[in-house]
Amino acid sequence: MLIPYIITIFFLILRTSRSSNTIVVHQNISDGQTIVSGNAKFELGFFSPGISKSRYLGIWFKNTSPQTVTWVANRETPLLDTLSVVKLDNQGNLTLVNGSGKVVWSSNSSASGTTINLVAQLLDTGNLVIKNGTITNNENIVWQSFDYPGDTFLLGMKLGKNFISGKETYLTSWRSADDPSPGEYTYRFLMVKGKYQQSYIRRSSAIATRIGPFNGITISGRPLITIDTAHPAYVSSMVVNQNEMYFTAISTNDTITGSARATLTPGGTYEVFKQSFRNREWILSITLPADYCDNYGVCGPYGSCDTANSPYCGCLKGFEQKISEEKSSDNDTSICRWRIALDCGPGEGFQKFSSMKQPDTENAVFSGNISLQDCEDACKNNCSCTAYASPNITPRGVGCLLWFGDLIDVRVYAQNGQDFYVRLAASEFSGEPEKILDKEVPLFRLSIISRATNDFSVDNKLGEGGFGTVYKGVLDEGQEIAVKRLSKSSRQGLGEFHNEVICIAKLQHRNLVKLLGYCIQGYEKMLVYEYMPNNSLDSFLFDESRKALLDWPQRFRIIHGIARGLLYLHQDSRLKVVHRDLKAGNILLDHQMHPKISDFGLARMFKEDENEANTKRVVGTLGYISPEYAVSGLFSVKSDIFSFGVLVLETVSGKKNRGFVHEDHDDNLLGHAWRLYREGKSDDLIDECLRTSYSACEVSRSVHVGLLCVQNRVEDRPDTSTVVAMLGGEGLLPSPKKPAFFVQESERNSTSILPLLPSSVNGVTLSQVDGR
Ligand SMILES: *[C@@H]1O[C@H](CO)[C@@H](O)[C@H](O)[C@H]1NC(C)=O
Ligand SMILES: *[C@@H]1O[C@H](CO)[C@@H](O)[C@H](O)[C@H]1NC(C)=O
Ligand SMILES: *[C@@H]1O[C@H](CO)[C@@H](O)[C@H](O)[C@H]1NC(C)=O
Ligand SMILES: *[C@@H]1O[C@H](CO)[C@@H](O)[C@H](O)[C@H]1NC(C)=O
Ligand SMILES: *[C@@H]1O[C@H](CO)[C@@H](O)[C@H](O)[C@H]1NC(C)=O
Ligand SMILES: *[C@@H]1O[C@H](CO)[C@@H](O)[C@H](O)[C@H]1NC(C)=O
Ligand SMILES: *[C@@H]1O[C@H](CO)[C@@H](O)[C@H](O)[C@H]1NC(C)=O
Ligand SMILES: *[C@@H]1O[C@H](CO)[C@@H](O)[C@H](O)[C@H]1NC(C)=O
Ligand SMILES: *[C@@H]1O[C@H](CO)[C@@H](O)[C@H](O)[C@H]1NC(C)=O
Ligand SMILES: *[C@@H]1O[C@H](CO)[C@@H](O)[C@H](O)[C@H]1NC(C)=O
Ligand SMILES: *[C@@H]1O[C@H](CO)[C@@H](O)[C@H](O)[C@H]1NC(C)=O
Repeated sequence: MLIPYIITIFFLILRTSRSSNTIVVHQNISDGQTIVSGNAKFELGFFSPGISKSRYLGIWFKNTSPQTVTWVANRETPLLDTLSVVKLDNQGNLTLVNGSGKVVWSSNSSASGTTINLVAQLLDTGNLVIKNGTITNNENIVWQSFDYPGDTFLLGMKLGKNFISGKETYLTSWRSADDPSPGEYTYRFLMVKGKYQQSYIRRSSAIATRIGPFNGITISGRPLITIDTAHPAYVSSMVVNQNEMYFTAISTNDTITGSARATLTPGGTYEVFKQSFRNREWILSITLPADYCDNYGVCGPYGSCDTANSPYCGCLKGFEQKISEEKSSDNDTSICRWRIALDCGPGEGFQKFSSMKQPDTENAVFSGNISLQDCEDACKNNCSCTAYASPNITPRGVGCLLWFGDLIDVRVYAQNGQDFYVRLAASEFSGEPEKILDKEVPLFRLSIISRATNDFSVDNKLGEGGFGTVYKGVLDEGQEIAVKRLSKSSRQGLGEFHNEVICIAKLQHRNLVKLLGYCIQGYEKMLVYEYMPNNSLDSFLFDESRKALLDWPQRFRIIHGIARGLLYLHQDSRLKVVHRDLKAGNILLDHQMHPKISDFGLARMFKEDENEANTKRVVGTLGYISPEYAVSGLFSVKSDIFSFGVLVLETVSGKKNRGFVHEDHDDNLLGHAWRLYREGKSDDLIDECLRTSYSACEVSRSVHVGLLCVQNRVEDRPDTSTVVAMLGGEGLLPSPKKPAFFVQESERNSTSILPLLPSSVNGVTLSQVDGR
């Protein structure tokens, strides 16, 4: 018993006389005494922060003023007097004992096995370690303060996560300059397997600022520690393996060790300091957040923040601002959407963005050993991939980030930015519309159109739609044209304009209106069509003085023509197009009263194997919209079929579905047709003015087909080729089920569906309604 005791005393005397950077077993360090690191840069002892009277055990930079604390042991258990001592027991447990002998804090560490000379040592890095022996060997470390950081990052520290123990190491701000207990802010890395490393400053759980991603050298954009690549004094690295993931930075020059720090302040700013060699003063080198654009995601998904612009927020190239009605909910803070919706067609490509902060990698998948070219291919081959990039800027750096979903927290950097590539629609890469369509569709100069329309004179006005005004014009060579001039306040953005031009330019059919050209100049956007001398179908059908001009054979031919135009759109063209706004007002009539489907502003091109799509933005016209589209935004060729069915019943009856009234019942036109059909009197639906001359069999057949088209269930409705065949044939037709929207929609409480739709709209395409 005596011999080990003597040995201990011997070592104790030996060690304390040789070095003051260690605490040996059973040695008491009391308030007033300190331990100093070998390089004399760090000191451990008791202190009171700011104006506080409480005492804390901590480590600070020696001889700097004001005192700069890097670590606090008893953050949450302040000492009230100066009678405390700290000591190391023979198990390797460092404890802080107050004046009453109560343990206020302990490291809770214990060395297993034989321990020869257990010590607690303050290293030159500012790390307090408890270890077995004086040999510098990580194996011997029982405990270290670097594993329990407070608000300060020092060179040599690791911030990250150990996947085996689950332990995560991150910074927590002080509550205030006088109170080291944990405050509101944390600074931690995104440490999830398979996700790429970046760091966040959070205020409790909300992200305040994102720093990164790691670019192979340091944390991108605002490097934590500026690097002189020729003479690097600091090297930061990201270590990722099966067991752990962490960020660390070390000094390559011993004289620099212990002369840099990064602190998360009580107010949530992350500040990086370097120490001046001359007078040891702290020089602030980086502050984050540095400006407005460092506020996390401040411009919303697909937005980009640039402090050199006014306003700071804008949409990425290829994106445009949404209008407020398009927001899916009140909580939807997003402002940008694709200017031209993606359809994953083969022509889609990637727009390069340079000198930027790469989007939040939370939404990205990382593969370490993939070249940029392979990365692009990988993104292109997966329709849900929205962007790709290499995060690594080192000369031989590889690695591939693929983003799935929203691109968030993008900003422009004046320097040290990085590249990334965002998926955009094919037409975005054919150059400006002028350039694509010079090839395919003629461009008209504004002056030509202005002359042709007599300066857009009121006398030339043919009509007014939601997107703008339609004028008649005559070109110099005598050709008559119809010009759709989009109003400046039009909801038809450049996206819909491109959509219409591109869509209709590729479609050529006798039952589709022909686009002759377009004009885009300044704010002016115009579409030039062949002139239709007989206006639109609704101008006959719903006009008491003109409806008789359309006899039954003409009406039956018009129904056929529309069906054939639709068949071309849905099946026979190179594209598969859903029109989405089929209505009497969009059926134009040429000089021979042949119908032509017009207005492709809302049309959607589908891929061959794609059958339906979903939109958050229900567009179309009340009275023609199918139930599944109105309720869940789901549209397909079958939603066009529904509209077609309504159109057929309107053409037969000369009555509008919307606003239909009958003295005997409250049913709408569809309900009325259904009653007549069930009573075996379908041909009674015929327009009063044609009562004396019509084919009962053709009318009944049209009504029957119309009713098949307006059935509630998508799968009950016939497809377009069947519709065409049924109209032309004579065979038996299946029995229709009760139509959707049976009752007048004004009967609010009997139709649960309609509250989704605004009620104050009359025959106007929903997306066009202004001033609400
Ligand atoms: C250390 O302090 C404790 C009181 O906390 C005291 O009992 C003990 O004798 C002291 N040991 C030495 C070696 O000073
Ligand atoms: C020591 O700590 C105990 C328990 O926290 C407390 O009751 C006691 O008042 C403290 N003594 C002093 C002198 O601070
Ligand atoms: C460390 O010491 C404290 C105070 O004596 C004790 O409560 C704690 O259990 C010890 N921890 C370990 C791991 O020995
Ligand atoms: C040490 O263990 C004690 C008892 O389990 C616990 O109250 C204390 O919070 C622990 N200290 C630290 C620093 O984890
Ligand atoms: C402490 O060091 C001695 C000698 O180096 C070694 O034999 C012993 O196993 C070590 N103990 C622990 C817990 O590492
Ligand atoms: C280390 O840094 C000091 C101070 O800047 C400098 O004088 C010295 O040359 C550096 N040593 C090396 C090896 O770079
Ligand atoms: C909007 O946010 C609030 C608060 O976060 C939440 O309670 C509500 O459910 C959200 N509403 C929707 C439609 O997501
Ligand atoms: C990365 O890819 C290269 C070339 O394909 C290969 O030689 C190398 O071993 C790969 N490295 C890793 C870590 O997979
Ligand atoms: C696209 O990538 C996502 C995420 O990695 C994956 O879940 C999905 O299966 C991929 N789709 C295809 C078609 O490869
Ligand atoms: C249709 O237009 C032609 C040519 O302008 C005209 O001759 C004809 O009368 C029009 N038909 C009707 C029904 O208005
Ligand atoms: C709703 O329906 C009930 C029962 O059919 C009827 O009494 C009531 O008047 C209706 N309310 C409205 C606002 O139409």
